Amino acid sequence: MIDPTILNPSFIQTKEYKRFEEFADTCESFRYIGLCYGKPGVGKTFAANYYAKWRSIEQAYSIEKLDDETKVEVKECKAVFHTAEVTNTPKRISQDIYQKIFQFGNTVAKAEGKTELNELLLGVDKTCPLVIVDEADNLTHQSLEQLRGMYDKYRFGLILVGMPGIEKRLSRYPQLYSRVGFAHQFRPLSEDEMMFIFEKQWNALGLELNKNQFSDVEAVKTIARITNGNFRLIHRMFAQIQRLQKINNLQKIDADLVLAARKCLVIG
Ligand SMILES: Nc1ncnc2c1ncn2[C@@H]1O[C@H](COP(=O)(O)OP(=O)(O)O)[C@@H](O)[C@H]1O
Ligand SMILES: [Mg+2]
Repeated sequence: MIDPTILNPSFIQTKEYKRFEEFADTCESFRYIGLCYGKPGVGKTFAANYYAKWRSIEQAYSIEKLDDETKVEVKECKAVFHTAEVTNTPKRISQDIYQKIFQFGNTVAKAEGKTELNELLLGVDKTCPLVIVDEADNLTHQSLEQLRGMYDKYRFGLILVGMPGIEKRLSRYPQLYSRVGFAHQFRPLSEDEMMFIFEKQWNALGLELNKNQFSDVEAVKTIARITNGNFRLIHRMFAQIQRLQKINNLQKIDADLVLAARKCLVIG
């Protein structure tokens, strides 16, 4: 059986995740190139990973005979997930992606009960529906061209995940840009969602968030203002709050504690 933590029980299916899911499904169905961009820390990598469930394939690839549970998990995998490294050559990117689409086809064939070597090898490079490339800002012009070539050859859907501005940068490469189906902005958390997450965080610290208590409401507003719906900042903020709460043996979170926690954070 596959390690259950890869299914990430702490993942929250936010509205942005739902929008991402719909976007990714469309890129897959129409074999589009899609651009997904958003500020650092809003949850793009987490969402793409959760959607793809690629690690199921990675783990199952080297197992010769899959058990029933693993077969189901493999069939749930929707995409190859690849992180573009800081230094990337066209040769390296094409080798990495090819190896992953091969793993995808081979493992899905195994999960479907095909065991003959020729069945496992036949058409493996044709079966991959979607490739997601994270940190696509790292890709050089040549690597982008290489990816575009693979996209044309294998007809998978392709999602490039990057920072705001990636859509403008790519518009300088007409060969690739003309194939982009649509661009999708990944936005920060809404007020309601922040509230939902804050309640969970309060509970994780052994406290109950009381919306009728002024100091709680003030603390919540202060965290919302500082973090601005940025998932990573929210997590780092609560890590500091927990630290200060422990050191000072505090029984509640108020605005003073939040401001003290903020001082320990580097916020860009
Ligand atoms: N849907 C989610 N559920 C739970 N935690 C999340 C979720 N999305 C993001 N996070 C948290 O926020 C952090 C930053 O998310 P990440 O996906 O790395 O952001 P980005 O790729 O946009 O820079 C993660 O390490 C995780 O702790
Ligand atoms: Mg990321």
